[in-house]
Parts: sequence; C-alpha cells; structure tokens
Amino acid sequence: MAYETILVETRDRVGLVTLNRPKALNALNAQVLEEVVAAMQAFDENARIGAIVLTGSEKAFAAGADIKEMMPKTYIDAYMEDLFAGWGGLTRVRKPIIAAVAGYALGGGCELAMMCDFIIAAENAKFGQPEITLGVMPGMGGSQRLTRFVGKSKAMDMCLTGRMMDAAEAERSGLVSRVVPPGELIEEALKAAGTIADFSLPAVMMTKEAVNRSYETTLAEGLRFERRVFHAMFALDDQKEGMGAFTEKRLANFKNR
Ligand code: CAA
Repeated sequence: MAYETILVETRDRVGLVTLNRPKALNALNAQVLEEVVAAMQAFDENARIGAIVLTGSEKAFAAGADIKEMMPKTYIDAYMEDLFAGWGGLTRVRKPIIAAVAGYALGGGCELAMMCDFIIAAENAKFGQPEITLGVMPGMGGSQRLTRFVGKSKAMDMCLTGRMMDAAEAERSGLVSRVVPPGELIEEALKAAGTIADFSLPAVMMTKEAVNRSYETTLAEGLRFERRVFHAMFALDDQKEGMGAFTEKRLANFKNR
C-alpha cells in the first residue's frame, strides 16, 4: 500500500511509523487513521518484526483529530460513521507499540499515544486534552485512558481546563515511562523496541496481553489469567532456552523471534 500521510520503515526487527502531515501538525484525519492502522496491521502480520515505534515530528506528535475535517459534521454523520471507532484496529495489534512523542500530543494526539503500549517523551513534549476549548470532549479515549494513567484529579483537571502537561509532569504522573532529550528520542525508542524484538516473540505478546488484561478485569481474575499464561509459557522452547542460558551463564538465543 502506498501511504501519503505517514512514512513507514523497518530498522532491523523494528517497524517505524512516522506521522507525516507537517503542515497540519500531524492532525489525524480519516486518511491518517486508515494508513496508521493498515501499517500497524502489516507489521503485526510480518514475521520479521518484533516491535513497532510510532512517532511524529519534533514540533508535533499530533495536534489532535483534524478539526477542519470534523467541523462540518452533523450528529448523524458522526454516529453513522462511528467516528474514531476505526482506531480500535490499532488497539488490536498484538505486538508492542512504543509511542515516541516530541512536541504537541493534544486531543486525539494524546489519545493516540495512550493507545500505544508505553510512551517515551522528549523533554519538549506537551500533552493535553483541549477538546473542551472546542465545545466538545475527548472522543478517542481521553476521558477513559487518561484517567487510568494519571488518576481522576489530574484527568479532570486536563479535560475540564484544557491545560497542557509538560514532559516532566507527564513522567511524574505516570503518563510516560521515560523522558529523553529531543535529539535522542527516536534512537532511544528504537533501542527499547530493539531490546523487545530480541526477546521471545510469543513471550512478549503474552506479556502485553496480560498487562492489558489488568485494565479490563478484577485483580483476582487478572492474577488467575497471568498464572495460566505463565504456565502455558513452559510449552515454549524459548522458556528452556532462556532459563538454560541463565544456568549456563551465556546469552539466550531465542528461536521464536
Ligand atoms: N486539526 C486541523 N488542523 C490543525 C490542527 C488540528 N487539530 N492543529 C493544528 N492544525 C493546523 C493549523 O490550522 C495550521 O494550519 P494553517 O497553517 O493552514 O492555518 C497549522 O496546523 C499550524 O498550526 P498553528 O498555526 O496553530 O501552529 P502554532 O504553533 O501556532 O500552534 C497548537 C500549535 C497549539 C498545537 C495549535 O495548532 C492548536 O491549538 N491546535 C489544535 C489543538 C487541539 O485543539 N486539538 C484537539 C483537536 S479535537 C480532538 O482531538 C478530538 C478527539 O478527542 C479525538
């Protein structure tokens, strides 16, 4: 598929998707949605890929859903097309996705970053849910995922005032996993993805599934799910290889990569 709004590359066993609508600060229109989901699904199906990085530009990861595209829509338009439901395709990707965020991650941009498995931010990153300033509210998961990331008080503050959070506050609040200098963002994200891609792919995918399950279920059910998946891992050659390598004091060489 030829893409117009994103750049797609592979770096060894890592897939890299770069949002590329610089004139609109990577605003997320219907074409971006279709292309990002298609590229992610293609990497998910590509046996040579072990992890994926999603990034934008130094100025903007993404400044939100495309306001100019949304403005003329009526209620019936939004309802009938189930506006933004298509992003569900991204959340069904089974391989890990790291969001590498520099600059603005606002509205749908913040929500897109939160759909990924973890966020690495550049020091100049700014997160926000400014939909209230447009007379609406978050529509790609902000009211739900931001609350789970940073708790009710900060999520209410962000969604009701529309203020932005800088990278330091985002790290303090648990929204991002690490903050790095802007010039090191992509290398750091690719390095983290490369580390993941060198592990056993089924073990990585099961781990992602188990962590995500914690959002969807009770602690008791989540712990049972974790234990059952952990037990299933003893059916993998890679469990024997990983534990064998530790015992023999050598590096593991996982087969299922
Ligand atoms: N949609 C469409 N176009 C956008 C956009 C967006 N979300 N954000 C920026 N752009 C466009 C601007 O219109 C401008 O285009 P023109 O040159 O054609 O006028 C271009 O990108 C550059 O933007 P600015 O001139 O505004 O750049 P700036 O540096 O002065 O300001 C900014 C940067 C603070 C991010 C500002 O662009 C801004 O506030 N953007 C909108 C942020 C926003 O409200 N996001 C939420 C969108 S709604 C949403 O996402 C709903 C949801 O939950 C899914």
